[in-house]
Amino acid sequence: MITTVQQHILQQQQEISEASGRFSWLLSGITLATKMVEAKIRTAGLNDALGAFGQTNVQGEQQQKLDVYANLALLHCLGLRDSVAALVSEEDEEPVTFDRSVETGKYIIVFDPLDGSSNIDVNVNVGTIFSVLRRLPASEGDLQASILQPGHAQVAAGYVVYGPSTVLVYTTGHGAHAFTLDPTIGAYVLTNENMRMPEQGSYYSVNESNAATWPKEYREYIDQLRSGALGRQYSSRYIGSLVADFHRTLLKGGVFLYPPTLEQPAGKLRLMYEANPLAFIAEQAGGMASSGKGRILDIKPEGIHQRTPLIVGSKREMEALLHGGSQ
Ligand code: AHG
Ligand code: MN
Ligand code: MN
Repeated sequence: MITTVQQHILQQQQEISEASGRFSWLLSGITLATKMVEAKIRTAGLNDALGAFGQTNVQGEQQQKLDVYANLALLHCLGLRDSVAALVSEEDEEPVTFDRSVETGKYIIVFDPLDGSSNIDVNVNVGTIFSVLRRLPASEGDLQASILQPGHAQVAAGYVVYGPSTVLVYTTGHGAHAFTLDPTIGAYVLTNENMRMPEQGSYYSVNESNAATWPKEYREYIDQLRSGALGRQYSSRYIGSLVADFHRTLLKGGVFLYPPTLEQPAGKLRLMYEANPLAFIAEQAGGMASSGKGRILDIKPEGIHQRTPLIVGSKREMEALLHGGSQ
């Protein structure tokens, strides 16, 4: 007996206030787009989908062809959903807005269409990350105010990691659930319901080449993990695709960090379409996510491309960093 993600969302809808079928229709736009991306990635070397697109995006980064393809797939599939008021993408400087009433255009979707672009051409896991916000009533602000909501206002969040298998993880605030794409039927099938992040793991995940310019407490923290101060020996794993490094942390526990660096004093990762959705999932699975100064989900965004330091992982490792103290 299989449960597809569509069935699961409909069952969840009974529990969340999005009683209308519009919410599952909305999420089906996301899952459809990810299946298009997955198909493109599976044969990327054969269909000229690899390599640079030849333009830089608002982040000042070289766009890869698959960044552009994934972005267009999401804009196309979601733009057709009449419940969408705005689409915010890592690849677009400004939100794409639709002239829909507050009653019709109820949702804003924020996404990183392809995460881990530097890994595409070397056949290493990449991903798609998304976050769903509900549009505020007109009395509480305009569309811009509805977009710049803190992460705790998310109605849903999730990611797809394109790897040896293609796995979708999502939450609507009632647990974190994983689905594996079954290519023989073209559906995401439930494989791990109500996921729990282990209380403590045995991996830490950070780009250590930046260690010299981290704030001192991060170097001391990594030394603590290495020295066995948390009661176990840690190993290091760093893939360079946030979605893949996060997915391992969700399943195995441990901690992922992207601290402030000299080059990126506010952190490299983006709040709205990287940190917030993953923080929502981490907390739903019993983990924690912090900027180093506070809970990620409490940060009030000032801009759609705002960056933040991100430390996310198991309670034991997170408390050791945030409240000090080893054994
Ligand atoms: P994106 O490909 O969407 O720009 O994201 C890349 C991010 C994230 O996936 C990863 O954790 C991080 O960049 C890696 O940064 P470094 O190469 O500086 O470690
Ligand atoms: Mn990314
Ligand atoms: Mn990206």
